Amino acid sequence: MEFLDLVKARYSVRRYADRPIEEEKLTKILEAGRLAPTGKNAQPQRIYVLKSPEAIQKIRNATGMAFDAPVVLLICYDKTVSWKAAPYGDDYDVGDMDASIVTSMMMMEATELGIGSLWVRGYHAQDIIDAFALPEHIVPVCLLDLGYPAENSRPSRLHDSKLPMDETVKVL
Ligand SMILES: Cc1cc2nc3c(=O)[nH]c(=O)nc-3n(C[C@H](O)[C@H](O)[C@H](O)COP(=O)(O)O)c2cc1C
Repeated sequence: MEFLDLVKARYSVRRYADRPIEEEKLTKILEAGRLAPTGKNAQPQRIYVLKSPEAIQKIRNATGMAFDAPVVLLICYDKTVSWKAAPYGDDYDVGDMDASIVTSMMMMEATELGIGSLWVRGYHAQDIIDAFALPEHIVPVCLLDLGYPAENSRPSRLHDSKLPMDETVKVL
């Protein structure tokens, strides 16, 4: 598919079919994240694949935003590994940005494979840390719910509500 068509085809899926994701497709999605660019190529992303009944129950207990996705990716970064902008005089940690790029790549690969997704930040970070006993240096950034869309899955009304380009882009 032409990339812009793929971008248009993606929407937030909140209803999933009772159908597992094939292992080879999940591997392709994770591969897209592995190949993503990261600051100074530090590759600080740490991805937890939640798919066992126990892990899925834990994430559903921590947030309602896992919906009924058969697989949820918990995307984190290792703050002892991520690149910091300190050489430029500020303490910005690009780990958050790296994890977001990784998530975007995986979301688009899922779309290409016909698998629906939902980017999630609707939770309290401490609940996620506690649920999975994340060590102190592992920073959770977001979840990516994954699964085949249910037959009655439709884009929400927000999906088509996009600002005109001149409100978000300024050519200087
Ligand atoms: C950073 C980020 C966090 C989000 N968190 C949530 C969330 O916690 N729950 C949810 O239902 N949707 C969440 N979304 C989905 C957005 O609401 C959705 O992308 C937006 O409304 C546009 O709709 P569309 O994805 O169908 O185009 C999130 C999206 C992003 C990019």
